[in-house]
Amino acid sequence: KKLIIINGPNLNLLGKREPNIYGSLTFTEFLEEVKTKYSDVVIDYFQSNIEGELIDKLHEVGFSYDGIILNAAAYTHTSVGIGDAIKGIETPVVEVHISNTFGREEFRHHSYISPNAKGVILGFGLQSYELAIQSFI
Ligand code: DQA
Repeated sequence: KKLIIINGPNLNLLGKREPNIYGSLTFTEFLEEVKTKYSDVVIDYFQSNIEGELIDKLHEVGFSYDGIILNAAAYTHTSVGIGDAIKGIETPVVEVHISNTFGREEFRHHSYISPNAKGVILGFGLQSYELAIQSFI
């Protein structure tokens, strides 16, 4: 199986950014652990702080990969463009969030990703990504 994790804005700061909400592990450290654990699965990784780059990546992988694990971060709540990109590709997308967005500010309760996603996993810290990997294998 060939999967990709796509992370949106500010997720490059994981480990440093609001550790009370997002934890103190960097994504690189986490990814290494997960790649070792699921060594029979290809797990590619892409992060960008730029909306259009996230859309370009979805187009690039969205007709050949078996699964996309997407944390669009703040763009989750604002991006019609990313929502439309998911509609336009063939590869199923599982939406993930580190935090339980429903327990946070009202503006985080709406997602442009969810209506087009295969499923949504949120609130389990970085384990949300691992659960998403498991959903594809
Ligand atoms: C997030 C939740 C979003 O509301 C926020 O903008 C993020 C991270 C999460 O993983 O919990 O940047 O997607």
